[in-house]
Amino acid sequence: MKVKGKVCVVTGAAGGIGEAIARRYAKEGAKGVVVADMDQGRLDKVAKDIGGLAVSGDVGQEGQVKRLIEEAEKKYGQVDVFFSNAGIGRGGHEDATNKDWADSWAIHVMAHVYAARALVPKMLARGEGYLLNTASAAGLLASMGSAPYGVTKHAGVALAEHLSIQYGDRGIRVSVLCPQAVDTSEGVHGAQARPRPLAARHAAAARQDRRGAATALGRRPEPLRGNCTAKIPRVARDDTSIVDPQHPISNGPDPMQRLKTLRLIA
Ligand SMILES: NC(=O)c1ccc[n+]([C@@H]2O[C@H](COP(=O)([O-])OP(=O)(O)OC[C@H]3O[C@@H](n4cnc5c(N)ncnc54)[C@H](O)[C@@H]3O)[C@@H](O)[C@H]2O)c1
Repeated sequence: MKVKGKVCVVTGAAGGIGEAIARRYAKEGAKGVVVADMDQGRLDKVAKDIGGLAVSGDVGQEGQVKRLIEEAEKKYGQVDVFFSNAGIGRGGHEDATNKDWADSWAIHVMAHVYAARALVPKMLARGEGYLLNTASAAGLLASMGSAPYGVTKHAGVALAEHLSIQYGDRGIRVSVLCPQAVDTSEGVHGAQARPRPLAARHAAAARQDRRGAATALGRRPEPLRGNCTAKIPRVARDDTSIVDPQHPISNGPDPMQRLKTLRLIA
């Protein structure tokens, strides 16, 4: 699906990857770009810059996702592309708090379910539509250091696979974006998920990975304004599943096989 002339909603768009995607959609001639986030101040600035609509709210709550879609439809008529990108960083293993598990589940899984629930019937009626979510390389391979993050990101990938198989032959395209490491240093991935310098975090992850299993932390983060700024919207536009299939995402045993499988259904 080409972005030109389409109405695109991007969540988590007050900064980082979501902001980059929203700006790119506007540049590529979207009919309307609706940006959503909990951070109203930064969100308003992005919307103003790109001439889009800002809708603040918590995507972990179904009523607020519904309201976001209603506001988008009120202004632009319909939603063609819904990019469910908002995410949070939470540390810990099985000992992480119930709140951290619940928040991660709400934002990394249920937010995508709520969007699909509201949009799929309308997209099926039109015979087209595009649902995307941002999971992570941690949705494909274990991310040592954060069980709530990795487990719920795996679920986000599974949901995208499910929707793709369920509706792919009826006009709904589904993609899942799986970045490995993008330097959005002031966002959740900078401030909370990586409190230590990345090199130290990678070394610690490698130490934890004693059996040599694949982990998601195999590479240094790419600057958001560098090459991956071009790659991310390309993925968002061209129905591919992974940011950069040319780069192996792991230092472990054959993760590419799994990526190939994902790409087959994208
Ligand atoms: N940066 C990376 O290295 C990396 C790697 C893999 C996956 N990701 C994923 O990419 C997505 C974007 O991450 P980013 O690095 O740009 O982070 P970021 O912190 O810069 O942006 C995330 C945005 O989501 C918003 N948000 C959080 N909870 C929300 C909620 N409940 N409702 C509405 N908005 C909410 C935040 O306010 C923030 O603006 C996330 O899903 C993240 O898990 C990032």
